[in-house]
Amino acid sequence: MTDRYAVIGNPISHSKSPLIHSLFAKQTEQDISYEAIEALLDGFAATIERLRSEGYKGCNVTVPFKFEAFNCATELSERAKAAQAVNTLSFEGEKILGDNTDGAGLVRDIAENLDIILQGKRVLLMGAGGAAYGVVLPLLMAGAALAIVNRTASKAISLAEKFPASDIRGYGYDELAGLQFDVVINATSAGLTDSEVPLPKGIFAPNALAYDMMYGRETPFMAFARQQGAEVADGLGMLVEQAAEAFYIWRGVRPDTKPVIAALRNPQ
Ligand code: ATR
Repeated sequence: MTDRYAVIGNPISHSKSPLIHSLFAKQTEQDISYEAIEALLDGFAATIERLRSEGYKGCNVTVPFKFEAFNCATELSERAKAAQAVNTLSFEGEKILGDNTDGAGLVRDIAENLDIILQGKRVLLMGAGGAAYGVVLPLLMAGAALAIVNRTASKAISLAEKFPASDIRGYGYDELAGLQFDVVINATSAGLTDSEVPLPKGIFAPNALAYDMMYGRETPFMAFARQQGAEVADGLGMLVEQAAEAFYIWRGVRPDTKPVIAALRNPQ
C-alpha cells in the first residue's frame, strides 16, 4: 500500500513540496504519494479530519495554517512549542503529532550546504513574525550568539524574552549602528513587496553570510548584502532541508538533499 501525504496551504498551487518529496521518495525507494491540497481559509480542521479518515499518514502545513496546525496537534515537539507553529503533522491512530522543521532546515542549510559553523557566530535575525519565531530555538541550539532586530522593536524584544535562558537581545534598526554580525538572516516579509530593510552599512563582518529565507527572487536585502561584500544565499536550500526533516520524521530515512537542491535550481 502506498502511504499518502500532502501539503496543505492557501494558496498552494506554487508549492514545490510535491516535487521535492517525489524526488526524495524516488531516491530512497519509499512508496509514498504526496499531493498539494488547498484548504478553504476556514476549512483547515475539516481538511485534517478528511485526511485522517482517508488514512493519510501525515501532512505538511504552510501559510496561513501553521498556527491552526499547532492548535490541532495532540502532541507537540519542543521545537514546535518554541515556534508556536507547526509545519509537519503525523497521524498515528488517535494521535496527531505536531513538529516544526523550518528552523532545523535553516540550520542544516547553513551548516551542511553552505559549510558555515554557527557555533559562537554573531547572528542577526531580522523580523519577529511567524517566520522568525520558527527559527530562534534551532539557531540557539546550534550555538549561535543571537540578536533579533525588528521594525517594531518591541516585538523583537518580546521574542527575545521568550528565551530567558539565553542572552539574546532584541533591537530596533536604529540601534544597530556600529555593530557587526557574521550571519544576517532575513525572516521579514519585506522582500515580498520589494522593500528595503533599513540595515546600516558596515553591519556585515568580513566574510559574513547574508541569508534570505525567501527564494526565487533577488530581494533588496540580497542586493544590499552583495554591495556590502557579503556572501549571499536564498532560502531554497532551507525549503529542501525542512522537507527532508519532515520526510525523516515520517519515513525514518534521511534523503540526500544536494541533488534535489540542484534539480530545483536548474530545472530541466
Ligand atoms: P511571517 O509569517 O512571514 O513572519 P508576519 O508574521 O506578518 O509574516 O511578519 C512579517 C515580519 O516582517 C515582521 O517582523 C515585520 O515587521 P513588523 O513587526 O514591524 O511589522 C517585518 N517586515 C515587513 N515588512 C518590512 C519592511 N519593509 N521592513 C522591515 N521589516 C518588515
